[in-house]
Amino acid sequence: MSENTCTNRNVTVVKETKSQLSRKHFLGAIASVAATVGLSGIAESASAATKKYKVCSTKDVKVKSANIFQVAAAGGLLVLITQPKAGVFRAFNPSCTHAGATLGGINGTNLVCNVHGATFNTSTGAPTGGPARSALGKYTLSQTGTTLYISI
Ligand code: FES
Repeated sequence: MSENTCTNRNVTVVKETKSQLSRKHFLGAIASVAATVGLSGIAESASAATKKYKVCSTKDVKVKSANIFQVAAAGGLLVLITQPKAGVFRAFNPSCTHAGATLGGINGTNLVCNVHGATFNTSTGAPTGGPARSALGKYTLSQTGTTLYISI
């Protein structure tokens, strides 16, 4: 297991109110997940290669919100964490599956790509609108106390 302090980029919290939707662009570079899985089919090898990385505290992502974190220990990997319901957290690759832009906001239960308007469900990552046809990449998320980890 590998742990390291993560950097909250403090750029992703976008709030929706009843009368006004506020969208902010996520700052930072597009992160793509380059998960390479060997074709050997040996489960032990895959399991041995999995590492666990600290992403953030549960307090860093408010209910019905999202935030992107840069995980230094994972080579600067960007991880989008959502909390679609109180106490329920999800971890996604923040790169839009349409053309790779970093997602830029949240509208109700949808993450939004501001480039061409694709939307993705905050709980499942499934595309819900716009040109994207594939779901966001997911990370295996675990929680110990108030700390969230991904395993990759
Ligand atoms: S890059 Fe996101 S909708 Fe086109």
